[in-house]
Amino acid sequence: MLWWHNAAVYQVYPRSFFDGNADSLGDLSGVQKKLPYLSSLGVDALWLSPFYPSPQLDSGYDVANPRDVDPMYGTLSDIRELIGQAHRQGLRIIVDIVPNHFSREHPWFQEALLSPPGSRERARFHFLDSEGDSPPNNWVSMFGGPAWTRTINPDGSPGQWYLHVFDSSQPDLNWTHPDVASDWLTTLKFWLDMGVDGFRVDVAHGLAKDMTYADLPDPVGLTEALRFDLDDGSPQAAQRRELIANSGFFDRDELQEVYASWRSVLDSYPGDRMTVAEAWVPPHRIGRYVSPSSLHQIFGFDFLVVAWNAVAMQRTITQGLDAVAHVGAPPTWALSNHDSPRVASRLGGGALGLNRARALATVAHALPGGIYIYQGEELGLSDAELPDSARQDPVFSRTKGQQKGRDGARVPLPWAGNMPPYAFTDSEKPTWLPQPIGWGTFTVEAEDADPTSTLNLYRTLVRDRKQLSGAVTFIESGDSNVMIFARDKGFHCMVNAGMHPYQLSDKFPICEVLVSSDMQLGGKNESVPPNCAVWFVT
Ligand code: NOJ
Repeated sequence: MLWWHNAAVYQVYPRSFFDGNADSLGDLSGVQKKLPYLSSLGVDALWLSPFYPSPQLDSGYDVANPRDVDPMYGTLSDIRELIGQAHRQGLRIIVDIVPNHFSREHPWFQEALLSPPGSRERARFHFLDSEGDSPPNNWVSMFGGPAWTRTINPDGSPGQWYLHVFDSSQPDLNWTHPDVASDWLTTLKFWLDMGVDGFRVDVAHGLAKDMTYADLPDPVGLTEALRFDLDDGSPQAAQRRELIANSGFFDRDELQEVYASWRSVLDSYPGDRMTVAEAWVPPHRIGRYVSPSSLHQIFGFDFLVVAWNAVAMQRTITQGLDAVAHVGAPPTWALSNHDSPRVASRLGGGALGLNRARALATVAHALPGGIYIYQGEELGLSDAELPDSARQDPVFSRTKGQQKGRDGARVPLPWAGNMPPYAFTDSEKPTWLPQPIGWGTFTVEAEDADPTSTLNLYRTLVRDRKQLSGAVTFIESGDSNVMIFARDKGFHCMVNAGMHPYQLSDKFPICEVLVSSDMQLGGKNESVPPNCAVWFVT
């Protein structure tokens, strides 16, 4: 088995992880200082969200130079040192690449603006003319508003339009242009040469576009299919995924050529380098992204949206396993990330949401494959309530406040103490997003000392999942609110999503609880309360 087949990967969102140089912003030296913490969590690898030069108009996913480090995060020598130190501690490093678009501050886009229509410089992006004042077609940005912005000619007259599937500051690259493909191969090699172990590929399903730029039947419905808007199992969910698949700019067959060329580059390096695709595609298309001639892994996002319901959970797990089984790729699971609400908030908030989040984590860690843990999830954090004036996500501004956006899950981590900044920084300056009052019990320091904390639950799950083996077999629990599955050597996982305790002994006269999500049960204790999950052996 290769390391990434069953790795636990921790997502670091550098701006909010830890401030190593007292300027109130998280940075690479902060990540390096906290490597011992990550080792104590037991994870195998870190995925670093973008740290490249960027105007930060989409929190770094607007990249102005994919082969450098933004001064706010440090320098190239800092990332080199971080990779070296992580490797010495046995941690792998996955960097995030954003090949669908550049920042408008990237020199290519600046050159394009200064070059005439029809020039090679403009052809690296999608520049189009249009009749009158309307954009070239009806495509809508995934962040709201039109997917086209009009340029202004040097003489002040209105010029061509350019495509941006996300913010207007993120012009989409034209992947039919040879410069684009070759520049990205250079970028891959740059980071591989530096020693990274893999890449998280942003919007991996988005690179190829319908070059006829035909209008879409339901462009607004498509934006609602954005992952942070996807709802749990509603009848519209499948429809929404189909919209994504027929969007003109997602999940097109031409993509496969790009990834085949990337795969040969990765395969030419020693050390089992890998890629993981961020690709929102319907289950029957997932296999296309993970094959020996394409990418290695694809995020399984269904736990981000699954309802608190045993039947839905079982369906989600079956779907996640089936989607990759036919191509022989390992499944992956994620409960949250920087684009989704925090899992404790999504599942009800407060103590109830936290109990459920812990239970869902207990289920996810019992499954085969890889697991992705978003920073702060291991502390059981909830989304922070933020005043609108503090919001920075372009989703908030582009939808004119109709969608609050993703800032609530991106607030700097609490490390110690009872008041903001909770030892996140030594600076007096306010953090870029305000931390809430009341996180004192959720700090690393507090949870470290509490044997029943979410942090200590995660440490147990991350450590013990390594011992598990075998396929997943669902077992009839006799209660539609209780899901149970088994793996090898008598191992079982059960979750109680109902309102009443579940007596394990009714079904399993001889069993022993190994781990419980509330960290209260153990041994022969057989009554599993609502909103709790356990691992047990029979
Ligand atoms: C997906 C990233 O996870 C998200 O944060 C970003 O806004 C979009 N891609 C655009 O890059």
